[in-house]
Amino acid sequence: MAAPLIIAIDGPSGVGKSTLARGLAVHLAIPYVDTGAMYRAVGVLARAAGIDLDDDDGCGRLAATLAFDFLDPPPPGRLRVDGRPMEGEIRTPAAAEAASRCSRHPSVRAALVAAQRRLAADHGAVLEGRDIGTVVFPAAAVKLFVTADARERARRRWHDLQGRGITVNLDDLAQTEAARDLRDTTRAHAPLFPATDAVRIDSTHMGAAEVLNRALAEVARWRDADR
Ligand code: DC
Repeated sequence: MAAPLIIAIDGPSGVGKSTLARGLAVHLAIPYVDTGAMYRAVGVLARAAGIDLDDDDGCGRLAATLAFDFLDPPPPGRLRVDGRPMEGEIRTPAAAEAASRCSRHPSVRAALVAAQRRLAADHGAVLEGRDIGTVVFPAAAVKLFVTADARERARRRWHDLQGRGITVNLDDLAQTEAARDLRDTTRAHAPLFPATDAVRIDSTHMGAAEVLNRALAEVARWRDADR
């Protein structure tokens, strides 16, 4: 039997990874695993439980007890933790910050990487995050590394938050996002960097449909090569 299709999408915040991943999942009828949502959930739940986000053991113990799943489409990629849907509360700038801080801990990463592999085991998946093509699925069929200019990324994040009813100052957001990206790319464990065999997509001047078509062309190329 053919191995399930795994598509790895990595890149910094605000490049359009989620839109692309959701589009691919719908188009190819495979699950969408939003790994950033999982780190966000750990950050939010750790804070709520009074766990210090710098406490590797405390955050790791919490992460290991949580059961993650993604609600079947529609809509694809909605996270459930211990059976409870988590959406609005994990999409705030504070949740992004908490996720970035607790994602530095090896114990948290070990628990979530294991959960991510389980989630994709049966039916394959499109997974998006920071370490999918380098750590979680280094043998993924298709690996994409998406980038965009920093200002454009901040503008997209701002737009996204605005759509959720969260108003922030664009310059402040650009600064906090830059600090988060720096932390995510310079941390000791599984930092963000492109896998050597990842296809790079600069989405700065591309619309969502164009990015999706570019990614679908890579899937088609892989399918042709696999025959
Ligand atoms: O993609 P996002 O903005 O929802 O991710 C939130 C944070 O989670 C991000 O700043 C770093 C962390 N993260 C990670 O370390 N590894 C992943 N695979 C996904 C996210």
